[in-house]
Amino acid sequence: MLVCETKAALRAAIGEMRRRTGGSVAFVPTMGALHDGHLELVRRAKAENAHVVASIFVNPTQFGPNEDFATYPRDPEGDMALLREAGVEAVFLPQVSEIYPEGSETFVDTRVLSRILVGRLRPGHFRGVATVVTKLFNIVGPDRAYFGEKDYQQLQMIRRMVADLDMPLEIVGVPTVRESDGLAMSSRNLRLTPEDRSAAVVLSRSLDEAARRVAEGPVTASALRRLVLGVLESETRGEVQSVDVRDAADLSALRGEIARPAVILIAVRFGKVLLIDQRVVGERAVAWQEAAE
Ligand code: PAJ
Repeated sequence: MLVCETKAALRAAIGEMRRRTGGSVAFVPTMGALHDGHLELVRRAKAENAHVVASIFVNPTQFGPNEDFATYPRDPEGDMALLREAGVEAVFLPQVSEIYPEGSETFVDTRVLSRILVGRLRPGHFRGVATVVTKLFNIVGPDRAYFGEKDYQQLQMIRRMVADLDMPLEIVGVPTVRESDGLAMSSRNLRLTPEDRSAAVVLSRSLDEAARRVAEGPVTASALRRLVLGVLESETRGEVQSVDVRDAADLSALRGEIARPAVILIAVRFGKVLLIDQRVVGERAVAWQEAAE
């Protein structure tokens, strides 16, 4: 596995891959501290492409002034071993100055998707994500890029940005990888106390119950929201931060009966640890079930 610290070295390596086989190049951007959720993106990328390129870059522009940029977990050695084992061909590991040289002043942003939901709580966060992802796409030039549904708003914002700016690549969304009890994998899970870790199963349980309710027949977005909130509040160790039922594509608010694919987005705090989860319900979930039968 090639480890490239500069844009020039990475471009040369990818140019060489393309000359050698002419096969498709997949890209998996990450901030490191890798777990099985990240590795699932690599596995999907590997199954669907000739070459897989990953990046590890803790992007300062997507952290607010009071957020955890300085203390974000970093383990380049461990990450590298995992990526090598998973069959990544080249990894981009730039310094901050390589990505944001002195004098940088251009940002990329979405007008609405950056500002709603998580974007309201974290002003500037999605602008930082859109900017670094655009830069990484321009550096790597991939045919496909892989993102987790775990960060659902991020995924939909990137899809919108790629369509709006005619970026010549395909965005692939990968379903959330979960622990055996259903908890969505996240590096934050390690910071939960054992009691909170057990209680945190309530997030996926609330989403399971919502999906069951949708399968039973027509339901309004507000009734579904109340159902999820009720399940989450039954676990008193967690402090519910938000429950939103939105259009699955553009995350706009839904009124009345759910008639198109919807996404349920939840955030619950356990002590200092904020956990998020999401589930798409409605037409797409039904189509999946039918495809599996
Ligand atoms: P990071 O948090 O490192 O996540 C990298 C990718 O892994 C994202 O697409 C995320 O959705 C996916 N991921 C995380 N946990 C997952 C899980 N349990 N199942 C499936 N996928 C999972 O997201 C970022 O980094 C950054 O914002 C980035 C896009 C790299 C831009 O800086």
